[in-house]
Amino acid sequence: MKKKAVIFISDRGSNSIAILNAIKDGYLKNLEISMIIADNRNASGLKKAKKAGFNANFVYAGTKKSKFSERGVENYLNLIHKIKPDYIFLAGFMRIIPERIIQSVKYVLNIHPSLLPSFKGLNVQKQALDYGVKISGCTVHFVDTNVDNGPIIIQRVVPVFDNDTVEILSQRILKEEHKAYPEAIWLLINNKIGIRDRIVEIVE
Ligand code: GAR
Repeated sequence: MKKKAVIFISDRGSNSIAILNAIKDGYLKNLEISMIIADNRNASGLKKAKKAGFNANFVYAGTKKSKFSERGVENYLNLIHKIKPDYIFLAGFMRIIPERIIQSVKYVLNIHPSLLPSFKGLNVQKQALDYGVKISGCTVHFVDTNVDNGPIIIQRVVPVFDNDTVEILSQRILKEEHKAYPEAIWLLINNKIGIRDRIVEIVE
């Protein structure tokens, strides 16, 4: 039986495309993406996904940028109850996920463009440059009720150079994100993950 997932995006959607490509290439064999859901009707990733023939839709989540409204939560929960996905993959989704949504599926995963627990929240590539770190990277983690906090599945590292700009560093990290997210999903759908307290153990 294939596992079912929905992907939430807010804008560009390149990580969602990386996941869809990993399915197309046969790397994520037992996975089906039932829908790509954007909380922003102008998300460029929404147009790209639709053009490529995927089931992609805007779903109203609220007027505030980072929080769901009550009606937004109901909209998303109604859809999840209809689709009954096993997982939600957050891929550049910029809203805090309410507990009711987290509890509506087996697992919610997120990708974040820093080496957590360093640099949580927004504009984290700028935070990393301003802090003067010499390495950065990305983290795929389980989502819990605290922002950028859940158990870490995979991290990939990139160097930070003296003359990096936010754009250059973001691109370098994004390249690694496109590998890390499919890898983390592969571990999940192939039952290779055990969680002890907040420690993820990769089971052979
Ligand atoms: C990615 O860098 C992702 O890690 C980040 O937004 C970008 C979305 O790119 N997510 C966060 O900052 C979440 N806190 P994409 O839309 O092209 O996948």
